Amino acid sequence: MELPWIVLIIVSLYSLNAMLAFGFLTNEERKCKYARIEKLLRIRCYDMDLKEVPQNLKTSVEVLDLSYNRIRKLKSGSFSKYTDVKFLMLYENMILSVEPGTFAPLTSLQEVDLSNNGLTTIPMELFQLPRLRNLYIDSNELRSLDLELLEKPIQAPLEYLNVANCELQDIPDLGILPKLWQLNASMNPLHNFNIDRLANFCHLSVIDLTRTQLSSCSCQQVGNHLVMMQAHQKFVPICMEKLDSSVCPLPYNRTIDSETFHSCQTSVELAEARSLWLFGAGCFGGVIFVLLVVWYCVHRWRKKRAKRRRLSQVQDRKKFVISPRNAINRTKTDDEPLHCDIARP
Ligand SMILES: *[C@@H]1O[C@H](CO)[C@@H](O)[C@H](O)[C@H]1NC(C)=O
Ligand SMILES: *[C@@H]1O[C@H](CO)[C@@H](O)[C@H](O)[C@H]1NC(C)=O
Repeated sequence: MELPWIVLIIVSLYSLNAMLAFGFLTNEERKCKYARIEKLLRIRCYDMDLKEVPQNLKTSVEVLDLSYNRIRKLKSGSFSKYTDVKFLMLYENMILSVEPGTFAPLTSLQEVDLSNNGLTTIPMELFQLPRLRNLYIDSNELRSLDLELLEKPIQAPLEYLNVANCELQDIPDLGILPKLWQLNASMNPLHNFNIDRLANFCHLSVIDLTRTQLSSCSCQQVGNHLVMMQAHQKFVPICMEKLDSSVCPLPYNRTIDSETFHSCQTSVELAEARSLWLFGAGCFGGVIFVLLVVWYCVHRWRKKRAKRRRLSQVQDRKKFVISPRNAINRTKTDDEPLHCDIARP
């Protein structure tokens, strides 16, 4: 009699436990979490076993975290609803392919993290995004990038680029990147390292080339170049031997004294000049606008004043005058009709 009861209680406790663990809790956990971070709408769909980019999220999302999922493929419609996204986290997925047009709608995108996926190439459209500043694509399988067809200079104002741990043989040639200040190419076997590439970065201050198997001469040349640029030496390998300049020439005519470097600098100056010009034009426009408003107000005020004057003159003229005759008549008798002051025939 007692044993079945105990069994029943144990069974029901067990199933309640299972329900709690897999029913309510996981359902709660599986919902993407909404929050406001520094006025930006953030949605975290972190570690949810997602296989695709969810399409039922609020479309005004600005920070979208899809990291630690099982997304294998990004499709051309994946982000077409979420055009306000500024920060996109896609690290630790299984992304192998990206359909053309996937990132094109993300014209507000400033930062994308695609690290720790299985990409063999960088989706070229990323380089045409007008606001993209930070690109993380480290720990992928980028072995050899086909950048021949890339239109240079690229539109994206890249400031930070991480291509670490991607089996690259050389630093990718993206043309001049006037705003790039940090480049991370560590953990790539850079056997074809070409010192000319550094001419593309006229504002570089940090470059990570640790564990890149640079040749002794490349190592020395990078060192020389960075000293001249006054950039950080912290993340470049220590060169084992000191080579004579007959064996390993100074790199400057291929870096900071090159055409490329100068055009990089000019494009920065141009951009600065343009923004200065725009600022000036803006100020000028503002002053003109204020003057116009003042002129308009004065004009209106004058018009009003003139109108008021005219009105008061008209009122002065139209003042009803009781003819002296009527005035006299009225004193006599009230029955008698008033004589009008019209011209008599
Ligand atoms: C470069 O990237 C690797 C891998 O993501 C990282 O471990 C390393 O700290 C980065 N280096 C710098 C200087 O940020
Ligand atoms: C750079 O200078 C070296 C001599 O210092 C010269 O041999 C080489 O041809 C020059 N390269 C260019 C691209 O001018």
